[in-house]
Amino acid sequence: MLDGKVAIVTGGATGLGRCHALELARLGARVVVNDLGVAADGSGKNESAARAVCDEIKSLGGEAVPHFGDVADWNASKGMFDTALSAFGDVNVVVCNAGFLRDSTLFNMTEQDFDAVIRVHLKGHFCALRHATVHWRERAKAGRPVYGRIISTSSESAFFAPPGQPNYSAAKAGIVALTMGAAQLMQKYGVTANVIMPRARTRMNDAGPLAAMFKRPEDGFDTFAPENVSPLVGWLASPLAHNVSGQVFVIWAKQVTLATAPHLDTRFESDARWTVDSLAATLGPHFEKLEPVKDGFTLQPM
Ligand SMILES: NC(=O)c1ccc[n+]([C@@H]2O[C@H](COP(=O)([O-])OP(=O)(O)OC[C@H]3O[C@@H](n4cnc5c(N)ncnc54)[C@H](O)[C@@H]3O)[C@@H](O)[C@H]2O)c1
Repeated sequence: MLDGKVAIVTGGATGLGRCHALELARLGARVVVNDLGVAADGSGKNESAARAVCDEIKSLGGEAVPHFGDVADWNASKGMFDTALSAFGDVNVVVCNAGFLRDSTLFNMTEQDFDAVIRVHLKGHFCALRHATVHWRERAKAGRPVYGRIISTSSESAFFAPPGQPNYSAAKAGIVALTMGAAQLMQKYGVTANVIMPRARTRMNDAGPLAAMFKRPEDGFDTFAPENVSPLVGWLASPLAHNVSGQVFVIWAKQVTLATAPHLDTRFESDARWTVDSLAATLGPHFEKLEPVKDGFTLQPM
């Protein structure tokens, strides 16, 4: 399905990214496996992690090259595209997946932990989307065929806004907006851009409050195997999904759930410019019927 196509997977050395890289290779894509090989909190570096996945792909008969670079570094991100172009001659599929967590409540979050998580997720997506969209637009301008797929990785945290993840949920909400803009911008070139919100057992959740939920079952279907997610990436990358763009997919277990855009709800009109008193008189009775937070903007966890 992806014979002749070139895919980049960021953070492709472990967890979900590794499964996406293997799935895209299985479908015939030549893959650039980007990974900085960091620890679960983003610290350290390890070049061997991305190489190991490339070796695994090659042992299965596929083609892959590693790219060792920080997705949120402008030049390293450009280098990732240059690696794909020099190794395989094009870039067709960009799966933005790299990232890490540094959880704590607003009370305790440091400026460094806020910046680091916003940077790796949101700026990491921005750098890749910027380089990818320019590449495809230049090809189109030169009259060359364009095949482009952007698959961004957000999280249901963007909807649930867990109080213990203010940096992460804000970054993941930003990724949705960034990708929806890319979908509109690139529609005229036939390039699609979609967002996945996965749930999977990886080192991101092998400790902490969610570890029990993600645990591998003794027997039966493995609800949170990362392999459950990658077929959606394969399908979105493929020609079969040429007409799917600007969508957000929640994906885990045997289900795929489409998220719709938040809609504008109750509207209040005034004959004149609002005043504090007229707002209180009009909105006050409305909010008396609602519960704070629970009836607010945030989606309640399922
Ligand atoms: N696991 C889940 O349940 C879950 C849920 C929602 C969203 N996600 C998202 O899925 C993506 C993959 O997460 P995972 O669970 O597989 O975690 P993971 O820690 O197994 O994989 C993340 C990979 O990204 C790499 N990475 C981190 N910073 C990097 C950087 N600056 N440059 C290049 N590579 C870097 C890491 O080395 C690692 O290999 C993340 O964006 C995560 O936020 C995961």
